[in-house]
Amino acid sequence: MRLQFANFENFRNIESFSFDFSPGMNIIYGGNAQGKTNVIEGIYIFAGGKSFRRAREKDTIKFDKSFSSLNISYADEKRENKMSVKYFREAKKECLINGVKIRKMSEFIGNFKAVLFCPEHLAIVKDEPSVRRNFIDSAISQIKPAYLGTLIEYEKILEQKNALLRNAEDYTEEAFDKTYEVLSERLAGDAAYITEVREKYLSILFGHVKNFLSDMTGGKENVSCEYISNLSSKDGVTGKREENAKRYFEMIMAGKEREKGAKTSIFGSHRDDFDIKLDSNSAKIFASQGQQRSIALALKLAEGEICREETGEYPVFLFDDVLSELDRNRKNYILSRLDGKQVIVTSCDEADFSDCTGATKIYVENGKYFYR
Ligand SMILES: Nc1ncnc2c1ncn2[C@@H]1O[C@H](COP(=O)(O)OP(=O)(O)OP(=O)(O)O)[C@@H](O)[C@H]1O
Ligand SMILES: [Mg+2]
Repeated sequence: MRLQFANFENFRNIESFSFDFSPGMNIIYGGNAQGKTNVIEGIYIFAGGKSFRRAREKDTIKFDKSFSSLNISYADEKRENKMSVKYFREAKKECLINGVKIRKMSEFIGNFKAVLFCPEHLAIVKDEPSVRRNFIDSAISQIKPAYLGTLIEYEKILEQKNALLRNAEDYTEEAFDKTYEVLSERLAGDAAYITEVREKYLSILFGHVKNFLSDMTGGKENVSCEYISNLSSKDGVTGKREENAKRYFEMIMAGKEREKGAKTSIFGSHRDDFDIKLDSNSAKIFASQGQQRSIALALKLAEGEICREETGEYPVFLFDDVLSELDRNRKNYILSRLDGKQVIVTSCDEADFSDCTGATKIYVENGKYFYR
């Protein structure tokens, strides 16, 4: 997958600019608050369907403008494609692929494929489970459209079930029980699928992560991962999907009074998590800053490997502020792994990339970009 061109208009602090990206390393460098991350954010919208900064769409429109417009062209193995997104202050967004309007985001996501690393991803190691779920969900969604469809459906059912639990007193007991059972059965079926896909994905992902981290540290650091869900036993998640759906369903039905008391759904794949271990210690508690960054980066490199295994080509790597806090050896390792791939990186310090001869360098100042 190769990103050839991107045009931004009224996006964040960028009034108008067209980028031509080279197939290898593209370095965007400049001082703080000049517009480096804005470029990564804009490109990633085409992969993830929304801003990774959890911004509202309108917040990404340049302060004094009424709309923003983003366009890219990229080539995959089959053809060249164009995608565009337009955000309006007063109207719904417009998304197009090769000139055709797209109504469902599940049809927009999964075309242009990118792996994103941004400093917020350090939270994958340390923060709450939802950060880790979001990470694997975004990664899997790009390569498995059916998974994204099920996730969206699951969220809707969960929302309905939580509304039922919040408003239980509005129902007769019989009506509550009937609705609870119907929603729980649907939730259990989707949860079994989601948990199964996530666990399989993670086991392949950590095969790569282990190798990357070991190579990065000369064999000193040994990383592993334990998947945790309502279905987990000491052997992880076992059993066929139908059996797992049945187990989820029985668990939910047996926990009805607890869920009623909590006024929210306690059982299901929305509570899944995974624990990253360095040797046998939980990385959440023991990893240093540099180790967290190394693990997060190894996860991202591994995400790229799985994408290539599944689709036949590497995604575009969008790495925001990637090398800070890493020692020389780790920096060199990351750069060596990115060699031969298309990468768009940002940095305050151009010197971090002094060994990257042949890279395209773009200097940014106040939302204006200069090829150097
Ligand atoms: N909607 C908007 N309209 C205009 N400017 C905006 C908007 N949103 C953000 N900005 C500006 O964009 C700039 C930040 O850009 P960006 O996040 O790309 O910085 P950066 O170069 O990555 O900086 P750092 O090195 O600190 O990460 C800030 O000056 C911010 O005020
Ligand atoms: Mg930034």
